[in-house]
Amino acid sequence: MSPDRSSPSLDAQAQMILRANDRGGYTVPSARLYPFQWNWDSPLTAIGWACVDLDRAMREFEMLISGQWADGMIPHIIFHAPSDGYYPGPGAWGTNHQPPTSGITQPPVAATCLRRIVDGATDREAALTRARPLVAALFAWHRWWHEIRDPEGSGLVACLHPWETGRDNSLDWDAALAGVTPRVDVAGLRKDILHADPAERPTHDYYNRVMTLVEEGKSVAWDGPGFMRRSSFRVCDLGIQCLLVRADEDLTTLAIELGMTEEAASLERWRVRSIAAMARLWDPASRSYHSIDLRTGLLAKAISVGTFLPLYAGAVDRAQAGALAELMRGTMLRTRYVAPTTQPWNDGYDPKRYWRGPVWPFMNRILADGFLRYGFADIAQRLHDDTRDLILRGGFREYFHPETGEGLGGGDFSWTAATWLVWAGQDIAA
Ligand code: GLC
Repeated sequence: MSPDRSSPSLDAQAQMILRANDRGGYTVPSARLYPFQWNWDSPLTAIGWACVDLDRAMREFEMLISGQWADGMIPHIIFHAPSDGYYPGPGAWGTNHQPPTSGITQPPVAATCLRRIVDGATDREAALTRARPLVAALFAWHRWWHEIRDPEGSGLVACLHPWETGRDNSLDWDAALAGVTPRVDVAGLRKDILHADPAERPTHDYYNRVMTLVEEGKSVAWDGPGFMRRSSFRVCDLGIQCLLVRADEDLTTLAIELGMTEEAASLERWRVRSIAAMARLWDPASRSYHSIDLRTGLLAKAISVGTFLPLYAGAVDRAQAGALAELMRGTMLRTRYVAPTTQPWNDGYDPKRYWRGPVWPFMNRILADGFLRYGFADIAQRLHDDTRDLILRGGFREYFHPETGEGLGGGDFSWTAATWLVWAGQDIAA
């Protein structure tokens, strides 16, 4: 659906996308490309639902936690209903879970989105009461991150697969993925390239490496500590680290309100520890933050959108915040539409390929929130206005070309529609 500039009803179009992608309590990210429930898409879509139907928004979270594992992990995909349009499906993951799920997780944004929805509810008390079991489930997931994915209590949590980061194909993972020996050939099994232009999708070599990691998870029956030991990919993604710090803060607030004081105390302890550990991710030479390969101890080199997320986490001092703002201002001068997922002057920047250049609307909202948190209103405004223009020009696409503004990837995308409803189609303060 391509929005009509003269139409007053972009909000209506965004709502129609949510309804069309609704599969009865959960929203698929995009009907053909991603026909299941995705972990971080769901809460970021639920905030959009909350503008039109609070009950439906809460239902999105309830469906998400219905896929939670006994150890607390919330999987990155929940295959509530069969669909043969996606690879790797439940068979390829082999998790033997009910409902069927993938074996890895995704960025923990749920608590932050839940808090936003509760805070915005007309009947806040009722929303908080309904949120109680969600808060308990999310606490178990946060504990899983801080304990299973950080067994030594270092304060840095590990990702064992690039898809866990949600920034699947980012340059940030190139060095760590180069250390994974591909042991499968899945080129003939891929379905993504049937639904989207292969030039915008990851390469076959990439797919062979990431599916090798899936085999490693299967080889230890997806046991949490076992997979930590077995995986030949182990990075601390700056994105997840920061989204988790922020989510710990938001979950603490909800837990306190619900009288869950022990949980709140644990969350606060984890949050403080995580922020302290982020000193290891600061690179004085580039004056910016980076992800780290936990196997080699090396920082990723590129400047990606992840670089700016410490602001969202509230994890930086004034000088560091200033350095990050300066970096983004440089990008603003040199790029028509911010924020490219990789800075255009980085080697490997590709304005059309998945997470290696394109602009993602939902990410811009998160970045703007971070810049506002430190008082950089001009940067937040530019992120907002560019996002608005991109959607007006290109429609509710998955991502956009940072120079031409062309809409790319999947169409009628749920979190793009939600981002419009809560932010891009509103005043910046929304
Ligand atoms: C892609 C994105 C991931 C997202 C999923 C569904 O895999 O990289 O972040 O969750 O699509 O939209």
